Amino acid sequence: MKKTAMLACALPLLAPLALADNLGFDGKIVEPDCDAMGAWFNCRKIGTAPADVRRGYEYIHHTSKTLGPDGNKKYPDGTPYSTTTIACSSCHFTGGHVPFGTPMYQSPAKYAGLPYFRPLNYRRDLEDSILDCFRNCMNADRTPTKTDPVMRDMVAYIRWLSDGVTDPNMQGPGWINLPGNGLPVVDPDVANMSGDPLAGRGLFNAECATCHSKDGPGRGEYRRGENRPRVPALWGKDGYSRGAAFYNSQNLAGYIKEHMPLGDPLTLSAQDALDMAVYINDQPRPAGMADQMFCHTETDGIPGPLRKPASWLVGCTYPSEPFTDQDILYGPGAPSAAWRNAEINRLKGLN
Ligand code: HEC
Ligand code: HEC
Repeated sequence: MKKTAMLACALPLLAPLALADNLGFDGKIVEPDCDAMGAWFNCRKIGTAPADVRRGYEYIHHTSKTLGPDGNKKYPDGTPYSTTTIACSSCHFTGGHVPFGTPMYQSPAKYAGLPYFRPLNYRRDLEDSILDCFRNCMNADRTPTKTDPVMRDMVAYIRWLSDGVTDPNMQGPGWINLPGNGLPVVDPDVANMSGDPLAGRGLFNAECATCHSKDGPGRGEYRRGENRPRVPALWGKDGYSRGAAFYNSQNLAGYIKEHMPLGDPLTLSAQDALDMAVYINDQPRPAGMADQMFCHTETDGIPGPLRKPASWLVGCTYPSEPFTDQDILYGPGAPSAAWRNAEINRLKGLN
């Protein structure tokens, strides 16, 4: 009763009654543990931030209500900024505040220092990394320009977030490995593990489907007019693309183990998380920029396909590589990584 009353309050325009009961889940999100981060990060309230920062937060956290297909912020010709129902913060938890939840507090300093981005071989700045996420994570055909007001506000928000870093040893510019940056490693020996999609399907149905499959496989739960999806889609046209870092099952497994099931983080075994990641990544999803990635020859003469992460089935394939798509998708990754490294050494004349 109490839950229903609270929801009715928060979502006054939504007619259906007893929303909370549909999922047995009242719209919780993954939030940062600000006490644990206190030694190096100051979680400030967004309400106290300047207007552009607050708008940027709205775009990143309440993406559906603002940029989404039913959102209130459109390009001048009326097309939506994002055609999927997921929010940036479906993955960048609480707008990038959460360690190992694809945070963004490191991003301004990192992109001021990174020489280039290996999969696509171009020098990127913070705006480019946002654009790549529009294309690969949100499946956008069209992206804002770097001077678009939405882009400017998102950048203002991410800069404000990074101003929350209080430890002077962790302040930029350049690559500084801030706590919780990068994707969590599911198991130190993950390169020698393989995922079983059939086992993963059973586990997904038992552990995740109550939330993530309510409206159809992987579709998650989304209703028009909500600020953000209560549960994000994991595949299909609203899910992330093959160009997304989550399409690398080792990455996805680490993320799942660290944060899911929602409310019970760090309860899954590494093997179970990997089985589910492989199952999720076996489902249909858009290509995004996948087909253009790792296709160039790098400045040291090494073809990009040799530098792909072992479990990311993306981009061009090196002609003589003896591994099937299934080897890459399900693992183990160690044999292909070793083969690619040996080939790099051979090309460099090292063996
Ligand atoms: C209680 C409901 C619930 C359960 C159970 C649950 N999730 Fe989630 N999941 C969520 C919500 C809500 C989010 C987004 C959180 C946020 O916005 O802060 C999410 C986010 C995710 C994301 C990142 C978002 C994206 O689009 O990729 C992945 C991956 C994910 N869940 C996988 C799983 C897996 C695998 C399981 C089963 C082990 C699972 N979840 C169980 C509710 C749930
Ligand atoms: C499906 C999940 C997902 C969604 C949705 C998503 N992202 Fe990302 N994003 C990622 C992952 C995973 C990375 C790579 C993180 C890494 O390599 O550490 C990333 C990287 C980034 C980076 C670079 C971070 C860094 O420091 O390297 C930025 C900035 C970013 N995303 C912004 C956005 C914005 C803005 C949106 C919404 C328009 C968005 N993302 C939507 C998953 C997502």
